[in-house]
Amino acid sequence: MSVSENVVGAGGTSLAPAQTGTVLRVEGLSKTFPGTRALDDVSIEIARGEIHALMGQNGSGKSTLIKLLAAYHSADAGATAEMDGAEFEIGKTVPHGLRFVHQDLGLILELSAQDNLALRGGFARGFGGRVLWRQQEAETRRILAAFDVDLDIHRPLAAATPVERTVVAIAAALQGWDGDGVLVLDEPTAVLPHDEVQRLFDVVAQVRKRGTSVLYVSHRMDEIFALADRVTVLRGGRRVGTYDIDGLDSRKLATLMVGNDVDPDFRADVVARTDTSVTLEARDVHGKWLRGVTLEARAGEILGIAGLAGAGTLELPYVLAGQGGPLASGELRLPQRSEEWHDVRSAGQLGIPLVPSDRQTEGVIAEFSVGENLSLSSLRGLGRTGHLSGGQERQLVEQWSARLGVVTAGPSAPISTLSGGNQQKVVLARCLAISPDVLVLCEPTAGVDIGTRVAIYRIIADLAAAGLTVIVASSDEGDLLALSTRILVLRHGVVAEELATDGLTKNELIRAIEGAGQ
Ligand SMILES: Nc1ncnc2c1ncn2[C@@H]1O[C@H](COP(=O)(O)OP(=O)(O)OP(=O)(O)O)[C@@H](O)[C@H]1O
Ligand SMILES: [Mg+2]
Repeated sequence: MSVSENVVGAGGTSLAPAQTGTVLRVEGLSKTFPGTRALDDVSIEIARGEIHALMGQNGSGKSTLIKLLAAYHSADAGATAEMDGAEFEIGKTVPHGLRFVHQDLGLILELSAQDNLALRGGFARGFGGRVLWRQQEAETRRILAAFDVDLDIHRPLAAATPVERTVVAIAAALQGWDGDGVLVLDEPTAVLPHDEVQRLFDVVAQVRKRGTSVLYVSHRMDEIFALADRVTVLRGGRRVGTYDIDGLDSRKLATLMVGNDVDPDFRADVVARTDTSVTLEARDVHGKWLRGVTLEARAGEILGIAGLAGAGTLELPYVLAGQGGPLASGELRLPQRSEEWHDVRSAGQLGIPLVPSDRQTEGVIAEFSVGENLSLSSLRGLGRTGHLSGGQERQLVEQWSARLGVVTAGPSAPISTLSGGNQQKVVLARCLAISPDVLVLCEPTAGVDIGTRVAIYRIIADLAAAGLTVIVASSDEGDLLALSTRILVLRHGVVAEELATDGLTKNELIRAIEGAGQ
């Protein structure tokens, strides 16, 4: 069946590529990894100047498709591909005009922003091949100027925030490009807060005005509806169909992805708690962005933390878990355990588990298996009482993999072979497996698909109902609305507002985050 027949057959009306022209066409694309058929006879057609979303659950094959386009993997036999009417060997050659921002960003963290950009774009060189550093620096600054990040371009990216790294990866893809072809973005916004997402959208809109097409992967529904013209949905490595965005709503799209009915606006059944005892108190917390935050949380509360980039939102979870770094100061106490106040710099010993925002560098150990990654903190947690036997470990891994629906070839598979969202589930499972009384989450659903998100919300809500205290910071308003019993809005490093979540709308939350009327 040709792509266009399938488009019509699947209920979407196509953009009529004959009118707009097809820039990229791939047919019959398959990819088999040992034990996994990641893509099975997939076709996709990108029209000139369109923003084409690629959606599907975790492990449905989106990044694999993109890595085949980038010739990072080779394809199974039988695929055909064309760019601007010229055939190319997909998985072997990359046509001029395809630019990529990969899900793991593909940056070298030991190098600075400037060096990363220079490596990708080729250094600006003068006579005799001398590197023109002044020119290279001006070019780096010009590209980064489209974003509002205050980044030292000479420092290693290891010291940069996830947001800053994302911006560098986007800049690296765009530099020196004449804009002809297709810009491929694999979850560029997974950790971007609202204001930076808007900036990325502006860049995407500019790119598209030049007639460039964009292939866009995101699990954030609202982005797809704000940006995309059409969407191709994958499920289990197969193409479900290609649809005009205008004919869809988020529920229909979620249902196409998952295969059964999903409510994308799900809100967990949580109630505000004022009757239970206080389990966590923090006072006068400072850090790189934090300017004196004082808060308390009760048993059974899910306290949301919201704010723009730079408000300190994503720093607070780290400080509370005792991982705030040298700039952190302030005090913390867990009154259920003792009356004693602890300096946040030594709060690590309290053993509050943290789901970090940056899965790549802090969340998983790439060389370890799924099982080892999952049981890491439990091993630590059990260190006092004894240690986990092989059998116990296997049981733990199986239990949590099943509860969160981790898609993996097995507990001994290297974690790097899991899709992004499935790695995130392992990180979450690791924290839950030690049965904590306080849990701190930073971007808990970064890169997690809509079906799994709801499953995670349910699990967290159930644990809270049983008395767990949860602090959740997220740049995704959907997380905060779905989960929180109460939300603290940070602005400029302090708590600017506290919101009750009963009846709170997304617009009201965004307005508070943006400080409208302040
Ligand atoms: N290098 C690899 N070796 C073995 N299996 C792999 C490898 N890379 C991906 N896979 C498997 O291929 C399938 C598709 O993975 P892929 O990364 O394409 O998913 P995805 O749609 O991008 O998911 P996500 O939304 O979580 O990023 C998964 O089952 C994954 O475990
Ligand atoms: Mg992916």
